[in-house]
Amino acid sequence: MSLFNEAAPPKLLNDILAATADANFAMASEPVVGSLLRTLAASKPRGRFLEIGTGTGVGSCWLLDGMDADSSLITMDNDAAVSAIAQRHLGSDPRISFVVGDAEQTLRELESESFDLIFADSFPGKFYARDETLRTLKIGGLYVIDDLLPQPTWNPDHQQNVDKLIAELDNSPSLRLVKLAYSSGLIVAVKITS
Ligand SMILES: C[S@@+](CC[C@H](N)C(=O)[O-])C[C@H]1O[C@@H](n2cnc3c(N)ncnc32)[C@H](O)[C@@H]1O
Repeated sequence: MSLFNEAAPPKLLNDILAATADANFAMASEPVVGSLLRTLAASKPRGRFLEIGTGTGVGSCWLLDGMDADSSLITMDNDAAVSAIAQRHLGSDPRISFVVGDAEQTLRELESESFDLIFADSFPGKFYARDETLRTLKIGGLYVIDDLLPQPTWNPDHQQNVDKLIAELDNSPSLRLVKLAYSSGLIVAVKITS
């Protein structure tokens, strides 16, 4: 075994990746990100999970693979077509609920300090509506974001958004975090105070 080989991927992943390619959806999470999500999910038995940005269900698939039978995942996306792909592959799992609509609106309706892990994989939850998102995270809960290293697809002005985001998280007294400069670049933060 090598550090460069991922552990066995979830059973449904290959089918989802094929559908993702068919749909020309280029924003799906990479396997190392998925593997991290699965590992973190496994650390939260009976956990409540939130994913902002379902896409075609790649991140959801990895999260579900780490979650125990008593855990639940809410995943949201405002693009009905990509969410439909995720729903087709993952919808029979009773632990997952799909919300199709604007995440910022939905976030306002969620209970405070109710999630054990949030994968904020969309502009809302990351670049805006972050306070609303962190409000819903339990003390001791994990906030996970990726796509923090420069990507060829970025608009020229996006780097400054990312720099601001990282600085704000670094300076937040309610978070302890680690920056992981692999894959697309990640932060894993723990909420330590409200
Ligand atoms: C990076 S992709 C998500 C990838 C997915 N989490 C994965 O692991 O493969 C970001 C998603 O956010 C969705 N999105 C963008 N703006 C949104 C909004 N305001 N509300 C909800 N979803 C949004 C996009 O439709 C897109 O599917």
